[in-house]
Amino acid sequence: MDKKWWKEAVVYQIYPRSFQDSNGDGIGDLKGITSRLDYLQELGIDAVWLSPHYKSPNDDNGYDISDYRGIMEEFGTMEDFDEMQEEMHKRGIRLIVDLVVNHSSDEHKWFVESRKSKDNPYRDYYMWSDGKDGKEPNNWTSRFSGSAWEYDENTDQYYLHIFSKKQPDLNWENPVVRDEVYDIMDFWMQKGVDGFRLDVASMYSKTPGLPDGKTDRANIGEEHYQNGPRIHEFFNEMNQKVMSKYKDMMTVGETSAVTVEEAKKYAAADGSEMSMVFQFEHVTMEYINGDKFNLRPFDLVAFKKIMSKWQTELEGLAWNSLYLANHDQPRSVSRWGDDKKYRKESAKMLYTMIMTMQGTPYIYQGEELGMTNVKYDSIEDYQDIQIRNAWDDRVVNGNANPDELMKAIEYIGRDNARTPMQWDDSANGGFTTGKPWLKMNENYREINAAESRADSDSIFHYMQKLIQQRHKYDVAVYGSFCEYDKENPDLYVYTRQLGEQKMLVVLNFTKEEQKFTLPKEIEVKKSELYISNYENDGTMEDKMLRPYEAIAYLYV
Ligand code: NOJ
Repeated sequence: MDKKWWKEAVVYQIYPRSFQDSNGDGIGDLKGITSRLDYLQELGIDAVWLSPHYKSPNDDNGYDISDYRGIMEEFGTMEDFDEMQEEMHKRGIRLIVDLVVNHSSDEHKWFVESRKSKDNPYRDYYMWSDGKDGKEPNNWTSRFSGSAWEYDENTDQYYLHIFSKKQPDLNWENPVVRDEVYDIMDFWMQKGVDGFRLDVASMYSKTPGLPDGKTDRANIGEEHYQNGPRIHEFFNEMNQKVMSKYKDMMTVGETSAVTVEEAKKYAAADGSEMSMVFQFEHVTMEYINGDKFNLRPFDLVAFKKIMSKWQTELEGLAWNSLYLANHDQPRSVSRWGDDKKYRKESAKMLYTMIMTMQGTPYIYQGEELGMTNVKYDSIEDYQDIQIRNAWDDRVVNGNANPDELMKAIEYIGRDNARTPMQWDDSANGGFTTGKPWLKMNENYREINAAESRADSDSIFHYMQKLIQQRHKYDVAVYGSFCEYDKENPDLYVYTRQLGEQKMLVVLNFTKEEQKFTLPKEIEVKKSELYISNYENDGTMEDKMLRPYEAIAYLYV
């Protein structure tokens, strides 16, 4: 296995809007990030993935970009960006920026031109189509509710938007558009960033003719834009035109609906496309027919099967990303742990898993504090376009049960992760002196960075230790993976191996005590403790595990 810095790195994701406000407008900003870099250095992370910092009307909090070379006004200036980048680099932290090029904002000058007339030079930058029998060109649905097409009276055509109608899809069939994207990448690489997280990277290529999609799923049309016919051609081209120029650059593709077979191409070990991808199977396994607001109960055996599959099947062929949370997912401790009595134990257990698997681990801001899902009094408190549109579509204009939808939103909704960072127990958790753009989670008085840093037994210090251990032991990064006791509905047990170095990981996913039996295939001459969220020594033996106990051993 080729060694690379980005395989050994632990990445921390910052959602700038909610990280740290420096000027009292209630919105996080770049100066705010710069002021918190010592904290990140103390945690020990190697790189930051920064959610979009570009100019945007914020229909989808920056994932709708109106100028790819400009900075979002609320976030500050280009000088602020330069300073932030320089201060990161000084601390040995690399910077990965988000690149959102499946679509732009409808306020981008390309789209403003494009919609003017059918013969405008920018017309083909987007996906325009005639209607069919006085209706939309096909039956595709937007991932933010309703049709994926918007009618534009001016030219009597529809444009495609897989996300909101303010996020028109760019036409990747047009080579000029692709060159624009490569120029934007060059611009930021020249500025000194270390790579990109590519937003919805699996969606650039659409089936020619844009046929109707199957209607048995929430996202109708998906099979015609996920991993489409030219997608690998596009990434090979991007790689030749951009990645090949910058030796140390890292790219991570957000590839919902990616299969192991597809991932082997996107994240191929030969470096022909991207460095790695985010797979989505473990975060969507509860969705019924792909509908995120219609959920089945969590099943640990199914979850383990997914996690283990991605461990073993990419081995040596492609590189994996490891994550439990991001700005689109709820808080991991609320989802898979226990955010009340065993909040600390379960958060530590979950990250013991992420930090002892093969792949590059990502920590989303606040996860190192065990921040939890939020519970608001009213739907009005939510700001997320996905939540608001689903509510309008299903409750206001449909006949969905409001209590049931609210329950789903409280469990899975994106605003759970977007409540501002909880720095201390002062007003608004030290996030802002103004009014936060999204209501704080009231538990900031107990759960915050100041408290966590002061407590030697905190999740923060445990995360720090997990990072240090991963930096120290190559087996945690590169070791091959083997699972035991696969049908056990309570425990996740696996080993890692790199040459002589071996590791055993035992995770109790329940709030009950569970019996662990050392698999008989495992032979131990000598063992020591790698990490544990309870008092433990390094003796590998059968034992009774306490609620959410996690133990990792090194052994030969
Ligand atoms: C994925 C991003 O992570 C999400 O926040 C956004 O809404 C969509 N892509 C559209 O850009």
